[in-house]
Amino acid sequence: MATNAAKIRNINHARKLARRRLPRPLFDFVDGAAEDERTKADNMQAFTEIDLLTRAAAYDLDPKISRRVLGHELSMPLFLDPVGGVRLFHYDGDRAVARAATGAGTTYAMSTGTRTAPEDMVAAASGPLFFQLYFRGTHDDSVRLVERVQDAGCAALFVTVDAAGQGTIERLHAHKDTFPMQKSLRHGLHYAPQMLMHPEWTAGFLLDGMPTNYQEYQRARGIRRSTVRSPTSPGRTVTCPTWEDIKWIRKQWKRPLVVKGLLTPDDARRARDHGAEGIVVSNHGGRQLDSAPATLRVLPKIVEAVGDDMEVFLDGGVRRGADVLKALSLGATACMIGRPYVYGLAAAGQAGVERILELFRSEMLRALGQMGLSSIDDLDASCIETSRFQALRFAAQETRGG
Ligand SMILES: Cc1cc2nc3c(=O)[nH]c(=O)nc-3n(C[C@H](O)[C@H](O)[C@H](O)COP(=O)(O)O)c2cc1C
Repeated sequence: MATNAAKIRNINHARKLARRRLPRPLFDFVDGAAEDERTKADNMQAFTEIDLLTRAAAYDLDPKISRRVLGHELSMPLFLDPVGGVRLFHYDGDRAVARAATGAGTTYAMSTGTRTAPEDMVAAASGPLFFQLYFRGTHDDSVRLVERVQDAGCAALFVTVDAAGQGTIERLHAHKDTFPMQKSLRHGLHYAPQMLMHPEWTAGFLLDGMPTNYQEYQRARGIRRSTVRSPTSPGRTVTCPTWEDIKWIRKQWKRPLVVKGLLTPDDARRARDHGAEGIVVSNHGGRQLDSAPATLRVLPKIVEAVGDDMEVFLDGGVRRGADVLKALSLGATACMIGRPYVYGLAAAGQAGVERILELFRSEMLRALGQMGLSSIDDLDASCIETSRFQALRFAAQETRGG
């Protein structure tokens, strides 16, 4: 039975619906995080340690929440994170997310792992789209990918630097070695009960030609080898770019460049010095290093280091409009969300993603009005109470980094 998107009450409700609608390994793939999932939990915990302060009797019925991000006016200070393999969660997932985001006046940083060609994504969108880069295939493949994304008209390039070696999502161990799904008899037998229990998802999955095999996906996009080579040093096998590579990318890429996956003021300064226009303070939603700090806890020192020079985005644990206002009060330019929109997509397709964005928008408008503010531009440290909030101090790094 299709979920009526309008009935999704909040992100936690969307999560419950996604859990019901997806085969368990897929739900665990999106919902899970590395090892004990401590970093994922603390991403969310950190937001609960900050209170929003109110100014009584100053209710604004129509506060301004639009924000300029990398030269584009977004209808709200929130846009969508790259998530690889979105089409596994819903057969029309890639385009559905692009349509929902741009239809809501915001945007989507599509992943290199998006199984739909960048040109088709741009054609489906009604506004600018960003692209997130991982190196794929040979040196020439990576060169071509950057050129192709530029020619396709993607408006900014997000280079993810926190995925050197994959974090272990231990929840997936319960599904043995059958994730991601492959078109094989063994996987078919393993998944048969799950597929029967989730007929709607299964129908879409079969309709979409079972887009599960990564090698097939690479071949379809003209990527010849699955070994990943750095463009700056073709002899070296890499899974994600180094600073040397970023220097190279900066020269190739003519539009705004953003480095995603930084957690220290030192690295933020390094990104700025390599010519990036923005950074994403991110720990990959707690999917890489478990015990990496929560993003909100490192935000104040990073804003202090580079906030005047570049746009600072934050993701990880953003689940309410009020969370976005808290990050903005600490100096973030805008927030990004990963799992929340995937829950919405899995629950109700494009309408589910639209609903998630609508929830964030209405929560932000309501909270801002209740705070007695007429614009997100008014948010600063005076709008929040932080005595329970544990921010990281970075004393050692600052001494080291100078
Ligand atoms: C299933 C899944 C796949 C992801 N794939 C990518 C990816 O391809 N590239 C990337 O830069 N980040 C990827 N991420 C990380 C997100 O972009 C983002 O940093 C994280 O989800 C934010 O935390 P949140 O889920 O709590 O909002 C992925 C996250 C999830 C949950």
